Amino acid sequence: MADSKQAILTLGEQTIPLTVQSGTLGADVIDVSPLVKAGLLTYDPGFMSTAACESAITFINGDKGILLYRGYPIEQLATGSDFLEVCYLLLNGELPDAAQYAEFRDAVVHHTLVHEQIRHFFNGFRRDAHPMAIMVGVVGALSAFYHDKLDIKDPEQREISALRLIAKMPTIAAMCYKYSVGQPFMPPQNHMSYAENFLHMMFATPCEKTQPDPVLVRALDRIFTLHADHEQNASTSTVRMAGSTGANPFACIASGIAALWGPAHGGANEAVLNMLHNIGDVSRIPEYIARAKDPNDNFRLMGFGHRVYKNYDPRAKVMRETCHEVLERVGVHDDPFFNIALELERIALEDPYFIDKKLYPNIDFYSGITLSAIGIPSNMFTVIFALARTVGWVTHWNEMIGNPYRLNRPRQLYVGATQREFVARDKRENVNVN
Ligand code: CMC
Repeated sequence: MADSKQAILTLGEQTIPLTVQSGTLGADVIDVSPLVKAGLLTYDPGFMSTAACESAITFINGDKGILLYRGYPIEQLATGSDFLEVCYLLLNGELPDAAQYAEFRDAVVHHTLVHEQIRHFFNGFRRDAHPMAIMVGVVGALSAFYHDKLDIKDPEQREISALRLIAKMPTIAAMCYKYSVGQPFMPPQNHMSYAENFLHMMFATPCEKTQPDPVLVRALDRIFTLHADHEQNASTSTVRMAGSTGANPFACIASGIAALWGPAHGGANEAVLNMLHNIGDVSRIPEYIARAKDPNDNFRLMGFGHRVYKNYDPRAKVMRETCHEVLERVGVHDDPFFNIALELERIALEDPYFIDKKLYPNIDFYSGITLSAIGIPSNMFTVIFALARTVGWVTHWNEMIGNPYRLNRPRQLYVGATQREFVARDKRENVNVN
């Protein structure tokens, strides 16, 4: 990495030279780490201007709508590869040859079962618990099963944890669903593809086998691929933050799942469906568009806009195609519910407010509609996002632990009370206790 440029920070009489680093792609980065020795901190709420780490996994150019996994454009991976190959690529940095792919697939399918004790965790939850709440708990609980046998400094043991997580997430996710509908858990079928097996565990019962439709299997595999990684987003940064303390990887991934849940991040796909249900009829779309534009109303159109993609979301482009394919396949093009979605998409794409603010439908808009057409209930959408993002989280965790890193410990701009003397409770008259 070239370190040739320099920035100079001038503050009163003080002049502080700062190194400017260039990556292989993307914005140059000013290394502000020497500032603390000069008694200064940087301030960047929301981390809009902060590169928190060095990473060689995923690159995003939000203005140009580019997303690369290990250098490969997402559009090419989503249409030409499959999720397990993408997992291999993310974890290892290169695409596998046929033998490497077969070996990787074999390793994943041999970890798909969960320990029998895990089944008992489910009974502790209410049947109507949100599946994300169950997911956070059960994935965190995996630490109790593998904690002692895990030396995070050993790359081989880290790899086994990664395989375990990628393999077990579909099993756990499907168990969350089966528990909520009161059906028996379905064991994984290792001869099936990753996405096919997930649909099997979701929809088959001991009385009835299912043969998942290949169009729906392909759509789901694409959803997994498109969600596999996304640079230093909120949940990935959470995993890195937790991992920097030396915590167990299963606990770190559970923290990522918790961060993913919010509607500004992974919860958006579920929020899209809830919004469409609230709209209820095509005739009410203008009312919702007006609310989204009203500066005095904090309502936002769910599934529109993105923190990084201010032009278009390349994942949304692929997902849109897949969404229309699935709607065609399952024959819901005339369904009033899906008509609301398509009409909302049309109006928002033509409305100057959304065009001027560069608010395009994001991946969650299309993935929510697609998952719904596949028959997956909306409270499972974020669980599916978590399942797919697990490979990204564990790849970032592994990259961090495998390289020199420091405990992540941000500082603050303190705006509270200045130092004052403690006053005993019985003497607090006329003292502002706040
Ligand atoms: N509907 C209506 N107005 C919006 C929307 C929206 N969905 N998103 C942003 N705006 C407006 C916002 O009111 C603001 O207007 P003004 O400049 O007049 O104050 C302007 O656009 C910029 O918004 P911002 O909040 O500064 O933008 P941000 O980059 O901080 O927010 C976002 C990004 C994703 C949180 C936001 O667009 C949003 O809340 N979208 C809806 C939720 C959603 O779909 N989230 C999923 C994101 S993709 C999944 C992922 O990658 O995790």
